[in-house]
Amino acid sequence: MSINKVMVIGAGQMGAGIAQVFAQAGLHVKLNDREQEALDKGQAGIEKRLERAVEKGRMTDVKREEMLEHLTFTTDLQEASDCDLVIEAVVESMKVKIDVFQQLDEITPPHAILATNTSSLPITEIAAATKRPDQVIGMHFMNPVPVMKLVEIIRAIQTSDDTYASVREMAEKLQKTPVEVEDFPGFVSNRILMPMINEAIYTVHEGVASPEDVDAVMKLGMNHPMGPLTLADFIGLDTCLYIMEVLHEGFGDSKYRPCPLLRKYVKAGWLGKKSGRGFYIYE
Ligand code: NAI
Repeated sequence: MSINKVMVIGAGQMGAGIAQVFAQAGLHVKLNDREQEALDKGQAGIEKRLERAVEKGRMTDVKREEMLEHLTFTTDLQEASDCDLVIEAVVESMKVKIDVFQQLDEITPPHAILATNTSSLPITEIAAATKRPDQVIGMHFMNPVPVMKLVEIIRAIQTSDDTYASVREMAEKLQKTPVEVEDFPGFVSNRILMPMINEAIYTVHEGVASPEDVDAVMKLGMNHPMGPLTLADFIGLDTCLYIMEVLHEGFGDSKYRPCPLLRKYVKAGWLGKKSGRGFYIYE
């Protein structure tokens, strides 16, 4: 199936970046958000990133203009009626996502593929809420989307081979590296990353080492570009806790129990960079 028209739903951190990479690949993209303010913010973010790319000589003025012509912004979901592919990047709530997918199921043409950027929710359950479960799939981009090369392509148990092949081809067209993943809690990325972060927090909790020293071990000893606690602060400690709970519940295995210190920080409102304090203090 040829994919020409795309809609991205949710103009937040992820959605705006996803719309940008589609426009960069020459596709017509509509960015949707239910809030005009969020849409304006998403648009401003894209324009600023493109401006910076032109200033730094990474993009020509002509290419920037071309990309902006490929992008439109709308609060009206009905505009998905001529789209071949829709990528949902709204808040991480099953209730909200199912509501969006059921509306899309009615609005979009029968051939359209419906993808979700969820980082933890079961794609199989989202697919089951639609009348086209074989055309539902996970397309998990990494943050910041324009920079990170990986896209995890997550197959729900119902996803057809054709849907998978179309989405994989699209990811390659976006110049990303797709990785095929089955729908299990945490997929691959968070199943491996979050227990490492949780273990780093246990190491601090048990007084084995300070946050600075834990990060130094992983950076200087393991060649990680960023220590696990710096990364946790960047992701948001509430998000880390939420994903650990998904793993814990999904596998029913105590090895995924969230560290009590992580719970305590979240209760204190110490959520990392976004709240000004996590394992480190941010001015
Ligand atoms: P965000 O909070 O920055 O943006 C969400 C946007 O969705 C908001 O602008 C909100 O107004 C909009 N929205 C909410 N309900 C809507 C609806 N019914 N229709 C249209 N728009 C709606 O969230 P963020 O960080 O961009 O995350 C979005 C999704 O991407 C989540 O599922 C998250 O788990 C996933 N994700 C996030 C990553 C991250 O590092 N932030 C990484 C990979 C995936």
